[in-house]
Amino acid sequence: MKEKFYITTPIYYPSDKLHIGHTYCTVATDAMARYKRMTGHDVIFLTGTDEHGQKIEDKAKAAGVSPQQFVDNIVLGERGVQDLWRLMNISNDRFIRTTDDYHVEAIQKIFKKMYENGDIYKGSYKGKYCKPCESFWTESQLVDGKCPDCGRPVEDAEEEAYFFRLSKYADRVKDLLENTDFLEPRSRVHEMVNNFIKPGLEDLCVSRTSFTWGVPVDFDPGHVVYVWVDALFNYTTALGFMNGKYDDYKDFWPADVHFVGKEIVRFHSIIWPAMLMSMDMPLPKKVFGHGWLLLDGGKMSKSKGNVVDPYVLAEKFGVDALRFFLLRTFPFGSDGNFSNEALISTINTDLANDLGNLLSRTVSMVEKYFGGTLPTEQTEDVEKDSELVGLISGLRALYEEQMEKYAFQNALAEIFNVISRANKYIDENAPWVLAKDMETNGKRLARVMYNLLEVLRVSAILLTPFMPTTSTEILRQIGACDCCSTWESAGVYASLKADASVVRGENLFPRIDEAKMLAELEAEREAAMKANAKVEVPVEEEITIDEFAKVSLRCAEVIACEKVEKSKKLLKLQVSLGYEMRQVVSGIAEAYSPEALIGKKVILVSNLKPAKLMGIDSYGMILATKSSDGVLRVAFLDPETENGAEVR
Ligand code: ME8
Repeated sequence: MKEKFYITTPIYYPSDKLHIGHTYCTVATDAMARYKRMTGHDVIFLTGTDEHGQKIEDKAKAAGVSPQQFVDNIVLGERGVQDLWRLMNISNDRFIRTTDDYHVEAIQKIFKKMYENGDIYKGSYKGKYCKPCESFWTESQLVDGKCPDCGRPVEDAEEEAYFFRLSKYADRVKDLLENTDFLEPRSRVHEMVNNFIKPGLEDLCVSRTSFTWGVPVDFDPGHVVYVWVDALFNYTTALGFMNGKYDDYKDFWPADVHFVGKEIVRFHSIIWPAMLMSMDMPLPKKVFGHGWLLLDGGKMSKSKGNVVDPYVLAEKFGVDALRFFLLRTFPFGSDGNFSNEALISTINTDLANDLGNLLSRTVSMVEKYFGGTLPTEQTEDVEKDSELVGLISGLRALYEEQMEKYAFQNALAEIFNVISRANKYIDENAPWVLAKDMETNGKRLARVMYNLLEVLRVSAILLTPFMPTTSTEILRQIGACDCCSTWESAGVYASLKADASVVRGENLFPRIDEAKMLAELEAEREAAMKANAKVEVPVEEEITIDEFAKVSLRCAEVIACEKVEKSKKLLKLQVSLGYEMRQVVSGIAEAYSPEALIGKKVILVSNLKPAKLMGIDSYGMILATKSSDGVLRVAFLDPETENGAEVR
């Protein structure tokens, strides 16, 4: 029976289109899944999308569609998540969406089970909340008062909520992290233990009442399950845990490895094992926290506007070259700086010069000197051949050792070490000199060619997880049959039949003109930015300082706030100017809940003529900005600002 192997990627937030950073992790997972299949495992490779939460609800509102329509568009729509994985040749066996019925049902059962066993209890939550990350933090976890993950401001939040007894599992989780190799790289263990466990693990707030886009807690309407509880259990529901959709849980759980980005290691190495302990379920064998692809030293993010579009890169450079670049250039456990220059240089050096050249030179020499088919009579020259033959024979083992450690970069380095040696072997043996006297040297020349084909064969097999299409094409061009294209045959020198016939094909990796390509990419980036931003330079009428002085802008504190009945957009606020109270109606209900505004200081146009909105009197206007994506954001003042102070 085949050994089982279950591997997962994080499930992606479909709040925006995916960028090259997201592609990195999925390509790595794909390479590992393909490697495991190649080495004879029965693999399930899971990816998917994490579709609930306030961020999605807010974005859908801003876009004027339902949350389901919003996520459907990003997951299933043109150039969406599923399109991207098809393009990148991702071989996932399963794709879970957390809005899938079977998953929602299972999450309700899981939540209830932890409630019934006493690990989930009802309390009241007071703390700091980072909306973009959907994470709650304690005061001590904040960095400079901001979210430790993304550095953005956090908000005060209080609500009735369910809690998970994370504190109860602190010792067991600490032991798991410190005394097993559950979490890798090891450097991440110290970070987790020192930053999160040692300061004291607090119970985790696992339900929300401030929005509705989530899995409803079926025994307490009004509460939805915290998105991370919903998301983490996807790894088990996608196998059929607590649902009837699949039946693989008993064979494939626990997972062999979860690949996750470093900022979500905390969720996967502390919260996830604790919840599994509570459910009395086996723990995954490993969590591997990979680094980030950085751009100019910083994280790529949509809000910074510095994301790199994988569609553009795949179109320009080809899918295999892009996949290869990601895993060849950056050590998987550390951060790496993405640049177009690095991408072009890797393609030109490794793929065009080393691999591409070796293939095209070898195939054309076999054609030129032997009409495309090698003779079986070949002469070995032990002195000249032994080093290369030794490298070919030993390559699979070296590669395997690195792949088993998820060290993709090192595994590829082993292959390219042999490829460079082979290019040197051509120069040492000078086939063009041997070819001058075929009668004397023909058999020797045949063996030189054969050894080169063997390097290409073994390399192509081992490159399959990284560049599936290219590998198949190399094997085709060198005339490798099915039985000498297997993992087993990659460990055995001389598996290719002696009279192999080559088939010339297209040049796999033409050299890229760097300057020309960089200029092209820059022009496209600018065009895309313009198209996306739809920025029209505003044509503005000038006013004089005296005209501006007519507008009275003052600091107002929100004392009370409620929704205006039957209106989706309006909130009714009572604000204090220090010297008086005012009632204001403002069209910001889609961006803020009433509770989120209480206590905030805003800018009020205080001498605006009173108006009636939906029959309610409004004495002034609150200033807010509207982003190009249509999202409203109130211009809040420093909390220290005095009520009624003039804004000038
Ligand atoms: O975190 N470089 O989803 P997500 C490398 N829904 N990896 C990057 C990256 C970059 N520049 N940018 C993002 C979530 N990633 C949750 C997961 S799992 C139960 C729930 C990686 O769409 C990031 O580190 O924000 C994460 O591992 C993955 O993309 C998904 O990020």
